[in-house]
Amino acid sequence: MASPAAGGVVIVGSGLIGRSWAMLFASGGFKVQLYDVEQQQITNTLENIRKEMKLLEQSGSLKGSLSAEQQLSLISGCGNLAEAVEGAMHIQECVPENLELKKKIFAQLDRIVDDRVILSSSSSCLLPSKLFTGLAHVKQCIVAHPVNPPYYVPLVELIPHPETAPATMDRTYALMRKIGQSPVRVLKEIDGFVLNRLQYAIISEAWRLVQEGIVSPNDLDLVMSDGLGMRYAFIGPLETMHLNAEGVVSYCDRYSDGMKRVLKTFGPVPEFSGATVEKVNQDMCMKVPDDPEHLAARRQWRDDCLMKLAQLKSQVQPQ
Ligand code: NAI
Repeated sequence: MASPAAGGVVIVGSGLIGRSWAMLFASGGFKVQLYDVEQQQITNTLENIRKEMKLLEQSGSLKGSLSAEQQLSLISGCGNLAEAVEGAMHIQECVPENLELKKKIFAQLDRIVDDRVILSSSSSCLLPSKLFTGLAHVKQCIVAHPVNPPYYVPLVELIPHPETAPATMDRTYALMRKIGQSPVRVLKEIDGFVLNRLQYAIISEAWRLVQEGIVSPNDLDLVMSDGLGMRYAFIGPLETMHLNAEGVVSYCDRYSDGMKRVLKTFGPVPEFSGATVEKVNQDMCMKVPDDPEHLAARRQWRDDCLMKLAQLKSQVQPQ
């Protein structure tokens, strides 16, 4: 268990992502304080965490070396932000994705924190320069963007503000590793960070291929889930190049002309509207009707698959 001297973690906003962070930090042995503007939300989240941790323990999927009860004893709710952050070493903000709201929260935190605590935002797409500029504690600020569901998908993108101290990046990186996540250092901020830029590149070409009648929506998805995705769960696109020839240099020698030829045929940014939306929606709804029950059941199935994949990945150590 982490030493209490190491300080605790505060989660600001105990919704979907706040709850996951709380479970992850507790799995690493850290004391966690959950704060939210809605007192009822804190109560509900604590109950949900209890249920989820018990289920995870029963299925042998609970993270960390502590029992569910031990982990649960580390998490508590707090309705007062100033009290919650006292002596904390890391604050993870998880309020809705709204720039003005997040700026308000960070301005509030800026007034009450010391010079040691890390101020980290879970934002999916707000740039650190928009979130943190002008704060007295800007050196201690960073975006730590998780991937949903963070309990099963370990990647966390760490994005610094231009004035973020290198020690803030290093400490956040080490903390993420300690709780079993897989952090990456984004060296300079960029719109969409890295994960969403890659995701949007894929969505964009997927959309164009469907729009142009090259492939059906269902078959397009199969290309990822039974093709590229199988490989990408273990190695990325750059290592794929390395392995699919005699190293990257040989891959570029052999395939760069072909790649450039194909890339030049990519169309403009799609509008994501009109007939193509209807076509994609029709296929998706045949597979998963878009009412809350069917969507929830499919999400549960997806999360079960991700949990099994996470177990497999932990068993197959890289050579
Ligand atoms: P959510 O809506 O589930 O939870 C937000 C929570 O913040 C609610 O409990 C709400 O009561 C609370 N809140 C609102 N105003 C507050 C305030 N002034 N002070 C304290 N708490 C307040 O949102 P979710 O999905 O958990 O997203 C949180 C952040 O995580 C967003 O920035 C989002 O972009 C990011 N994120 C979300 C992902 C997702 O798939 N949902 C994935 C990765 C990042």
